[in-house]
Amino acid sequence: MKPSRDRRRDDRPARHGGQDGRRQPEARPDQARTAEPAPARRQLRRREGELPAERLPLILEVAPNDDYALIDSGAGRKLEQYGPYRIVRPEGQAIWQPALSEREWAKADAVFTGDTDEEGMGRWRFPKAPLGETWPMRHDGVDYLGRFTSFRHVGVFPEQASHWDHMAGLIEAAKRPVKVLNLFGYTGLASLVAARAGAEVAHVDASKKAIGWARENQEMARLADRPIRWICEDAMKFAEREERRGSRYDMILFDPPAYGRGPKGEVWQLFEDLPALADICRAILTPKPLAVVLTAYSIRASFFAIHGLMRDTFAGMGGRVESGELVIREKSAGRALSTSLFSRWVAK
Ligand SMILES: C[S@@+](CC[C@H](N)C(=O)[O-])C[C@H]1O[C@@H](n2cnc3c(N)ncnc32)[C@H](O)[C@@H]1O
Repeated sequence: MKPSRDRRRDDRPARHGGQDGRRQPEARPDQARTAEPAPARRQLRRREGELPAERLPLILEVAPNDDYALIDSGAGRKLEQYGPYRIVRPEGQAIWQPALSEREWAKADAVFTGDTDEEGMGRWRFPKAPLGETWPMRHDGVDYLGRFTSFRHVGVFPEQASHWDHMAGLIEAAKRPVKVLNLFGYTGLASLVAARAGAEVAHVDASKKAIGWARENQEMARLADRPIRWICEDAMKFAEREERRGSRYDMILFDPPAYGRGPKGEVWQLFEDLPALADICRAILTPKPLAVVLTAYSIRASFFAIHGLMRDTFAGMGGRVESGELVIREKSAGRALSTSLFSRWVAK
């Protein structure tokens, strides 16, 4: 994608779906396609002060566990265990050969074929027996629903577990009320883990469908009594409004797609919009913030790019910026499958 910094948020080419590569935003048929008039663009100035300390490269790994495992990978595919089901999906980065035999792969309960233009369940094949759209999953005692979605996703990005555990540790160690903002929150796993750790959470996503799934997950997790606000809105617009209103957060997570749209057609382009959103995230922190965690995927960039942005953005705030990759460690031959880049500012 070519960065073009002088274009406004409303005059970008209308494109649907995501970029090539790893995780892509869901197709959202429920969305309006007309763009909203864009607000004036934020004037970005270099923040004064010393740059935060740095720690990199930091590779955060998810190892095979009882809830989830990358069983094997290779030849452009991955074989994963999601709770009770073995699932095969395309994986462009697995350019090596599978370590396990075809017989092992043939034991899959579900295979994403991607070989038709069909939307919905049609793109999933269930070799053993037809399966329902959802199934029970669990992360570290938090119950939620796995889900066969139209775009090969299964309702969770397991590599994010590294962030969830880190975030829960910070919330618990704070021993005070903590407010968390989860932008681009999808099915809400981070929001649920934060709420279970004791935080008050604002969860924002542009997709009405994803918000619905997140609410179902809250029920599944038996966390219905926890303070989570589910907000269907454009992430940038919401953050801008929080800044104007004076709402503040102790911790912010943002996991934006390379390209996405808000519910009113607002266009999100990572290379153009990320610097402004990072700057707003800084502006809406409480005086005693804990962390700001950014993940990026499906982009042609190095973690040094988002590391540089985060260090600049948090200049003068002390703390440390840690950056690297989120990877999943394979059970069969121990290879690491890279899923995304991340950069996080931590106060301590
Ligand atoms: C890959 S998901 C994020 C995954 C999430 N962090 C997790 O771990 O489950 C990207 C999400 O961004 C949402 N999205 C895309 N464009 C958006 C926008 N302009 N404002 C808010 N959310 C947006 C999509 O609906 C999708 O749920």
